[in-house]
Amino acid sequence: MAIREIVKIGDKILSLKAQDVSEFDDNLKNLLDDLKETMLFAEGVGIAAPQIGISKRICIVCVDGETVYELINPVIVKGSGMQYNIEGCLSVPGRNGYVQRPKKLIVDAYNRDGEMIRYKVSEYLAIAFSHEIDHLEGILFTQKIIDDEEKIKKIKSKAENE
Ligand code: CO
Repeated sequence: MAIREIVKIGDKILSLKAQDVSEFDDNLKNLLDDLKETMLFAEGVGIAAPQIGISKRICIVCVDGETVYELINPVIVKGSGMQYNIEGCLSVPGRNGYVQRPKKLIVDAYNRDGEMIRYKVSEYLAIAFSHEIDHLEGILFTQKIIDDEEKIKKIKSKAENE
């Protein structure tokens, strides 16, 4: 395992649509292990392969320091509800901002053994899944930051009523 360098905002790879994984081999397992090590070292709650310079549809999420979700070729089957919270990103040091996300997500993804798994996630975990899957589409949270005070007020009251 190795800690990889994290690509920062401004690098083109972060704005590319990443490529599907087709080989579930030892290279993939090593990459997943490196992603995990890099994420833990950087004290993040998720990381996507493009963030270490690899434009493949792979990301991992760990919001509680224990359960690590490895998502390969993830597809959002359904998103519902709305939540609104402050986010940051390992590729955008020093910046935080409010982003609107689905409150619940159903995601299909392969695991490292090539088995398809359906995840039903909500709350903070849904934020992390959505943020990391965005990376695979070349989307950074900075593109979704809402900084208009009036808009924030409206969204907050809507989110609280859901
Ligand atoms: Co990020």
